[in-house]
Amino acid sequence: MGAGDSAGPRSLWTEGQMALLELNGVTKRFGGLTAVNNVTFNVEAGSIFGLIGPNGAGKSTLLNCLAGLTRPNAGTIHFDGHDTTGFPADKMSRLGLGRTFQIPRPFPRMTALENVAVSASFGGARLGARAVQERSLEMLEYVEFPRAPHTSAATLNAVQLKRLDLARALASRPKMLFLDEFAAGLTPSELHDIAKLLRRIRDDGTTILMVEHVMRLIMDLCDTLSVLQFGELIAHGDAATVAQDERVREAYLGPNYML
Ligand SMILES: Nc1ncnc2c1ncn2[C@@H]1O[C@H](COP(=O)(O)OP(=O)(O)O)[C@@H](O)[C@H]1O
Ligand SMILES: [Mg+2]
Repeated sequence: MGAGDSAGPRSLWTEGQMALLELNGVTKRFGGLTAVNNVTFNVEAGSIFGLIGPNGAGKSTLLNCLAGLTRPNAGTIHFDGHDTTGFPADKMSRLGLGRTFQIPRPFPRMTALENVAVSASFGGARLGARAVQERSLEMLEYVEFPRAPHTSAATLNAVQLKRLDLARALASRPKMLFLDEFAAGLTPSELHDIAKLLRRIRDDGTTILMVEHVMRLIMDLCDTLSVLQFGELIAHGDAATVAQDERVREAYLGPNYML
């Protein structure tokens, strides 16, 4: 590393240069299929980062590598200054990574509040029962959960489940939040509300990495975009530039796509 090595803890100057998440050559193979091929990019703290690409491009697999659900075959991952390559999901969660799932699966026999409480109790800080309860109520309010906290999770509709999933992901106060196709199936007015909420989460200090198909939301929210195709990064940069990229339009948006 640099000249500051002998100084012990990383100097403030160096700290300022670190991205929150750094991928270097991340590769994941399933048998003969290379689902993610040599992917390198950084996600800066305080940003909303979009990962897009056609179905089967490797987006979810890449998220799973980063979140510790599967081990990459090659490459390195640094999160918040730690080399987290190959770390399991619980360790990533304790380091400050939260995520929602493409299909939210809450515990159906529990109430909304209890579902959030499960996440709040397993977060980075070990909280007492009362603090867990308070934190969980606070999170339901934060995501503007539209039902009573004691509503059974089994009775929630798709949008309510998404908000519950967000409350669960945020309950451990993550530094970074992964969203996998969070906006799928939302109406335009729900999209508008979710965009507002995601911006607030970012403004309150949680960096967001979103895999998303809804271009309106991506263009509205993302500071930076990466595009995957057949597991490879084919474009990377600010959202407006990437959306104009010839290869991206052909691969993903279609030749007649208009912004
Ligand atoms: N667990 C797995 N075992 C084998 N192949 C997989 C597995 N998960 C994903 N794949 C394959 O890897 C490729 C990328 O899939 P995925 O990451 O789900 O893409 P995306 O999220 O971009 O739609 C696809 O060809 C998919 O069939
Ligand atoms: Mg996917």
